[in-house]
Amino acid sequence: MNDDLNVTILGIVGTPIKQGNCQYLLEQALQVAESVGPVKTELVHLKDYRIEYCMGCEGCLRRVHKLQQKVGFDKIPVPVKGYNCSIKDDMEILHQKMLDADGIILAAPVYIASMPGQMKTFIDRCRTFVHDYRLRGKVAAALTVGFFRNAGEDTTLQALTLSLLAIGLSVVTFGASAVSTREGLGIPIRETRFAVKEDLAGMIAMQAAAGQVAQAALQMKAGARALEEAGLRIKSRGWALVPGH
Ligand SMILES: Cc1cc2nc3c(=O)[nH]c(=O)nc-3n(C[C@H](O)[C@H](O)[C@H](O)COP(=O)(O)O)c2cc1C
Repeated sequence: MNDDLNVTILGIVGTPIKQGNCQYLLEQALQVAESVGPVKTELVHLKDYRIEYCMGCEGCLRRVHKLQQKVGFDKIPVPVKGYNCSIKDDMEILHQKMLDADGIILAAPVYIASMPGQMKTFIDRCRTFVHDYRLRGKVAAALTVGFFRNAGEDTTLQALTLSLLAIGLSVVTFGASAVSTREGLGIPIRETRFAVKEDLAGMIAMQAAAGQVAQAALQMKAGARALEEAGLRIKSRGWALVPGH
């Protein structure tokens, strides 16, 4: 087996709760991903990191544009070296982990029909990737857990999924939503800390999503390698206007 074709899937859970249902769902998803093939995984919990709000300074954008003026607007990804945010906190560690991964799975609970602030703050701080395309070619999916069936898991999944697309990742599945109460009726399941595992539909959707992320990451990496070996260069296009084209 070619060791070079191993992939890494990074799971990121964003909820104020440690060892909760979202973390459980993501841990299971990463296990599924590992069962697909030569896949390594890592789980990070945003609660373990110091993450400040984006202050809207647009420093990341300005640095990307400056670089583009130097190397050309058709150079994709923009060759940004390392961390590109004006705020020095633990996002530097998380950006590096994202750049090192071949696939990313986000997991967050439904908080008032959307994601909790911790996850949104993390995503806002990823703005450099919208413009520098450094996450292009990596695959992704989103997972969510709610209390009630049909009380915001669709909107949360959609917000997470669109955020993944916005920062340049290739979302390869609808993702999965699950409930952490009996039949999604808001009735607590007291026998277990991880009530989400009683949601068969949610667990099956999670397995399908995680399997798809792992498979697509492996195929993406093998495909890129095959193109390279055949000497075929793909010309990527970004969102910026390329002068003269
Ligand atoms: C502030 C807050 C808002 C919530 N809003 C919703 C909601 O709109 N819809 C829903 O189904 N569940 C909602 N929930 C319930 C959580 O999504 C649910 O308990 C989930 O299992 C939490 O995941 P965790 O165990 O990983 O923290 C809310 C919980 C909190 C604390």
